[in-house]
Amino acid sequence: MITLVVANQKGGVGKTTTAVNLAASLAATKRKVLLIDIDSQANATTGSGHEKAEDKLTIMDVLARGACIKETILPCTDFGFDLVPSCQDLISADIEMTTVPAASLQLKNALRSLEGSYDYVIIDCPPSLGILTLNALRASSKLIIPMQCEYYAMEGLVSLNKAINDINSKTGENIQISAILRTMFDPRARLTREVSEELQKYFPNELCSTVIPRNIKLAEAPSSGKPGLFYDPTAKGTVAYLALAGEVISKFEKDSMVA
Ligand SMILES: Nc1ncnc2c1ncn2[C@@H]1O[C@H](COP(=O)(O)OP(=O)(O)O)[C@@H](O)[C@H]1O
Ligand SMILES: [Mg+2]
Repeated sequence: MITLVVANQKGGVGKTTTAVNLAASLAATKRKVLLIDIDSQANATTGSGHEKAEDKLTIMDVLARGACIKETILPCTDFGFDLVPSCQDLISADIEMTTVPAASLQLKNALRSLEGSYDYVIIDCPPSLGILTLNALRASSKLIIPMQCEYYAMEGLVSLNKAINDINSKTGENIQISAILRTMFDPRARLTREVSEELQKYFPNELCSTVIPRNIKLAEAPSSGKPGLFYDPTAKGTVAYLALAGEVISKFEKDSMVA
């Protein structure tokens, strides 16, 4: 079971779009996939065709209230993957979880009971480095950072890397950035090319060769509660996420066989 965490402390960089579309694309290759939404905005939940789960068990019940993760799983039957939903409650996770023992290990511990049930668990993180993202990072086997090739993107990446190193030295974990994904990519922009060159120079092994183009279909799909693959299967953005799934499979499944 590979736990793929999609994180970036910046909002609007394509985390949720990546989590939902990668879930659908990996499921299309017959992998068993669970998508876990740990953002209070619940965009991955609604983008996978479920209501914001106010009356259902959510990831918050697992993290803060001792619920069994298996009881929170909802099928997204049409799309071929399962979902652990989120809800607005998660906004108070930092406060509610202060009384939970080993608060930052709740997700990792919960995932143990799913070992063998899924090939991939994909976690969509909130745009912050609070207790929720910390839970995801500590549960991760692979960390994927979506980013836009913008002026401040490299700075954001450097501070994320520093935060990860701090976490590693405080907890004894060995969390590392496994993949950097360029999203909303516009090859015509000079800045895009400059940032790409920097990324290539400093993160040659992590930088995904797949890039996700800016594509209106990817932005429209969530309003119909569908991943791109089921909204417009031939759109450039959809095809790019299928290619990303191929890259993930060849990069990470090989690693996990060696490990
Ligand atoms: N490749 C893309 N092309 C066009 N729009 C995109 C693309 N990726 C994401 N978006 C849009 O950009 C916004 C932010 O993306 P989102 O995935 O929600 O980011 P995050 O989860 O990091 O906040 C959303 O409105 C989304 O639909
Ligand atoms: Mg999001």
